[in-house]
Amino acid sequence: MDFIDLKTQYQRVRESMGRRMQAVLDHGQFILGAEHHELERKLADYVGVKHCIGASSGTDTLLIALMAYGIGRGDEVITSPFTFIATGEMIALAGAKPVFVDIDARTYNIDPRLIEAAITPRTKAIMPVSLYGQVGDMDGINAVARKHRLPVIEDAAQSFGAKYRGKRSCALSEVGSTSFFPSKPLGAYGDGGALFTDDDDLAKLMREIRVHGQDRRYHHPRLGINGRLDTLQAAVLLAKMEIFDDEVEARMRIGARYSGMIAEALGDRVTTPLLPPGCTSVYAQYTIEVSNRDQVEQAMKAQGIPTAVHYPVPLHLQPVFADLGQHAGAFPISEAAGRRVLSLPMHPYLTEAQQARVVQALRAAV
Ligand SMILES: Cc1ncc(COP(=O)(O)O)c(C=O)c1O
Repeated sequence: MDFIDLKTQYQRVRESMGRRMQAVLDHGQFILGAEHHELERKLADYVGVKHCIGASSGTDTLLIALMAYGIGRGDEVITSPFTFIATGEMIALAGAKPVFVDIDARTYNIDPRLIEAAITPRTKAIMPVSLYGQVGDMDGINAVARKHRLPVIEDAAQSFGAKYRGKRSCALSEVGSTSFFPSKPLGAYGDGGALFTDDDDLAKLMREIRVHGQDRRYHHPRLGINGRLDTLQAAVLLAKMEIFDDEVEARMRIGARYSGMIAEALGDRVTTPLLPPGCTSVYAQYTIEVSNRDQVEQAMKAQGIPTAVHYPVPLHLQPVFADLGQHAGAFPISEAAGRRVLSLPMHPYLTEAQQARVVQALRAAV
């Protein structure tokens, strides 16, 4: 069994994918070609915002957004410690200090009730992470941000396609940023990402930063990076967009089916994902909690079921952030989650029979 099955998806889009990639090879505009512009338009419409800026990766989108706000040395950015390294890493790479705020124990997303205590005169932005495929309490986050006049940059690398109170992830704050890493809900065949905003000035700035801070050819008013999305990856993403709505629906159905099957087989011995009212999840990961995680992981592996841990060590305990001076116990909910979470195989083509095998193995393992 695959943890993520990209081959079945490829068979489904093979023809359109081949045609679209061949068109790029024929016209030869590999950088910012027509497919790139077509994709930006389609993605902006899909998310429901004015501007989409294609970019080279989800990591680079975070850096571009931070640079667009002029965030750097001496500044602080509030984020979750329970995330992939890129979130804190890009804050630090921009020159600022990541200030961690613990998560809500049931949604794994930043707890807005704890944000205000972390705000200082140096705070320049809040960067919530929409982990595992669902958005956090964005109304709560936006309310604190509004009170303190701080921009909110959503790290939506895992939640592209999810909805929160009728709006899509990436359209819920000043800037939304996502990743098209191949295993993400909308994945390219290489690295890629995109930024979303309704703000014309910010969009212009982010477009310039994406190309070496260039406002016209070989004229550079500011620093930027080489942060463009390849035209070939745009062609891949256009082909996958044709089936994306259907895949998102499948993800939601399969996630709900897992939760039902696990509840029936294991009762409350396993914690399944919680979807607050008004939220949908695209289940970038279907992640459960068990008290004996490492043992369960090994036992599942022995039964041929691949699993993964997202993420075992919260960012404040990563060696790279040792100079922040945070110790074990600083963010107890994130630390407990790091010891207990386990992600099960998840993709839109998982069959009911495969899920039954996973749940059977889980029952034997717990
Ligand atoms: C929460 C989060 N932020 C940022 C990233 C970085 O995205 P990319 O791998 O496209 O650079 C990821 C990717 O795994 C992620 O999960």
